[in-house]
Amino acid sequence: MSSEMSPEPREATPGQAGAEPLCFADAATAQMERLVADFGRMYRERNEALQEVARAHHEALLRLSLAAEFKDDDTGVHIVRIGYLAEALALMLGERADSAAMLRRAAPMHDVGKIGIADGVLKKPGPLAPDERVAMNRHPEIGAAILGQSRIPLFQLAASIALSHHERWDGRGYPHGLACEAIPLAGRIVAVVDFIDALTMSRCYRPAYDDEQALEMLAEQSGAAFDPRVVDAFIAHAGQLLALRDRLNAARPSFAELVATV
Ligand SMILES: [Fe+2]
Ligand SMILES: [Fe+2]
Repeated sequence: MSSEMSPEPREATPGQAGAEPLCFADAATAQMERLVADFGRMYRERNEALQEVARAHHEALLRLSLAAEFKDDDTGVHIVRIGYLAEALALMLGERADSAAMLRRAAPMHDVGKIGIADGVLKKPGPLAPDERVAMNRHPEIGAAILGQSRIPLFQLAASIALSHHERWDGRGYPHGLACEAIPLAGRIVAVVDFIDALTMSRCYRPAYDDEQALEMLAEQSGAAFDPRVVDAFIAHAGQLLALRDRLNAARPSFAELVATV
């Protein structure tokens, strides 16, 4: 029998028709691996780009809030404390970690509208005259106008806080006289931490209250100025929250450290 007619299967050599299925499988596998690697790289690059955008939003907000803060307090630390205290309090109220973290970034903007208030009113020692009070009470709406109409969720939350942080639980706040749960929770939380933090800070028109006095004043306002659930959470965890404030005062995180906390 000639070798050409041999029924024995022969080993395929490259270039022969019998080798093609194997080569095709190798090429397909290699292509699949390249695709998976490309997707992995694109996914990483996309995440890095998204994080960069989030960092840019956060930085823009911090720079704006520092501008307002330098006009009012000259230290810039109040807004940092408000962010961290609002986040901690939100967690204590059972809010999700991601929304509490967003509150930390947005809450420092609560008084950005003070950029639009004349220094003669903002820094006046002693009580404000009625027309000066009217001017001062415009800062929530000015803040919301600065931040509002944005498609960026962080700016939307910041605008909502700026607008609502002087509303009162009993409906006697400003600018809209909203009451109870009609006030966004973020605004109710920031109102409480801002109250305590502002009281325990010395201002040009009065010395600082001590922590105990400030907590008593907070308790007195439960159900009046402030949401009782938020007040109860603050008082129940006051030791932890005031220790956090003291740590922030001692650490004084730099601007770069704050921006990096995205
Ligand atoms: Fe304010
Ligand atoms: Fe404040």
